[in-house]
Amino acid sequence: MNTLEFAQQCDQQDELATFYDRFHHPKDLIYLDGNSLGKQPLAVKAIIDQVITEQWGDRLIRSWNEHWLKLPQQIGDQIAQLLKVNTSEINVGESTSVNLYKLAHALVRSRRFGNQLITDSLNFPTDNYILEGIQSQLNLKAIITIQYPSDLEADLEVLKENIARNPGVICLSLVSYKSAYRYPMKMLNDFAKEHQSIIIWDLSHSVGAVDLELKASYTLAAVGCTYKYLNGGPGAPAFLYIDQSLVSALETPIQGWFGHSQPFDFSADYVAAKGVAQFKAGTPQILSLASLKAGLSITLEASTKRLQVKSQQLSTYLLSLIETELTPLGFRLESPRDANQRGSHLTLSHEESWRICQCLQHPKPNRPTIIVDFRPDRFLRIGITPLYTRFEDLWRTAERLKEIVSTEEYLNHDGTKPVVT
Ligand SMILES: Cc1ncc(COP(=O)(O)O)c(C=O)c1O
Repeated sequence: MNTLEFAQQCDQQDELATFYDRFHHPKDLIYLDGNSLGKQPLAVKAIIDQVITEQWGDRLIRSWNEHWLKLPQQIGDQIAQLLKVNTSEINVGESTSVNLYKLAHALVRSRRFGNQLITDSLNFPTDNYILEGIQSQLNLKAIITIQYPSDLEADLEVLKENIARNPGVICLSLVSYKSAYRYPMKMLNDFAKEHQSIIIWDLSHSVGAVDLELKASYTLAAVGCTYKYLNGGPGAPAFLYIDQSLVSALETPIQGWFGHSQPFDFSADYVAAKGVAQFKAGTPQILSLASLKAGLSITLEASTKRLQVKSQQLSTYLLSLIETELTPLGFRLESPRDANQRGSHLTLSHEESWRICQCLQHPKPNRPTIIVDFRPDRFLRIGITPLYTRFEDLWRTAERLKEIVSTEEYLNHDGTKPVVT
C-alpha cells in the first residue's frame, strides 16, 4: 500500500480521474491547500475572454440586457442543483460574511425563533464577528460562543444543552476549518426545530466535496463561499439559501436597488422584491460570476455524490499513510478518524509544523514544491479536492514529510513565524 506504484494504480482505477485534465496545474507543484483557493479550471480563460472582449469591450451597456442581468440567476440555478434545493431559495453575490449578516439579521428580526445568537469555538472567525455585530446593533443579549474541551471537535451534548436553554439563531460551520470535524446536520436541525431555534449552516468548507442534501437534512438556512472546492476563483461570489417556508417572513437589512421589486423604475420608495431576490443589494460582480460558471459546471458534471466518495477514499488513504509512516515521527492526526465525521481535509500537528511547512514550500533541489496550510500554533492542514487531487500527490507528500523529519531537514529553516502566514 505504501508504494508509488500502489498510489498510481489507485489513480488509474479512479472513475473521476479525467477531471484532473480540466484544471491548470503549475509545474512541479503539489497543491494541497486546505482549502482557501481552488485551482483554475481551464475553461475560465475562454469565458472571461468572451466577457471582456465581446460583452464588455464591444457590447458595453447592452450586455446587461443581453447577458448580465440573467447571470446571477443562471449561477443560482447551478448552486441550487448542487445543494438539491429550489432555485427560488438561492441568492448569489457578495461574500459569505455579508450573506451571513443579511440572513442572521433577518432571521432574528422575524421573531420566528428565540432571539439568542449562538455559535461555537469551531466556527470560522468572521462568522462570530458578524454575529457579535448583529447582537450589538439589535441590542440583543450577549451571544453565546460555546467552548468545547478541544477546538477540534464539538461536544454535541454541550451544544444541545445550550440550544435547549437558549433558543434562537445558531451559526455553525458544517465542516470546521480547523480539524475538518463535520456535524451531524440532520440530527441538529431536528433538535433546533424542537427548541424554537434555527441553524444557519456555513457550507464554505463542505460544498463541492461533501454531498449535501439540504432538504433531506431539514436544513432551513445556509451560506457558503465558492472559491474553495468549487474553484470559482479569488473573491468568487458567495451564496445564501433560505427555505421557501421562511422567506416571506424575512426582511433584508440591506435595502439596495437590486433587491427592489422594480429596480429599473428608479422609484423614490423602496418596495422589496418578493422572495429571496430581496437579498440582492447592488450591482452583481459580473466577471467573478462568469468565471464561477466553469467550476460549477465541472462539479455538477462530476456529481457531488461521486466527489464525496472520492474525497473519502483519498482521505482514508492519506490517513493510513499518516498512521503507518508519520505518527512514529511525532506527527499527530487532529481530524476525526471516521470519514463520515469529517470533511475533505486532514489536519496534522507536529511541534516543528512551521519549519516543516517551510521545507515543503521551499524544497531542496529535485523535490516538488508542496503547498499545505500552516495554522498556528502547530497545525498542518492538508486539503483534498476530489476533482483533481491524486493518490500519487498524497503519497509524495507523505514521503516528503517523512524525509523532512527523519533527516532533520527542517533545521535549515528559521523557526520564527511571520505575523501574517
Ligand atoms: C467557513 C468559512 N466561513 C466564512 C469565510 C469567509 O468568507 P468570505 O471571505 O467570503 O466572507 C471563510 C473563509 O475562508 C470560511 O472558511
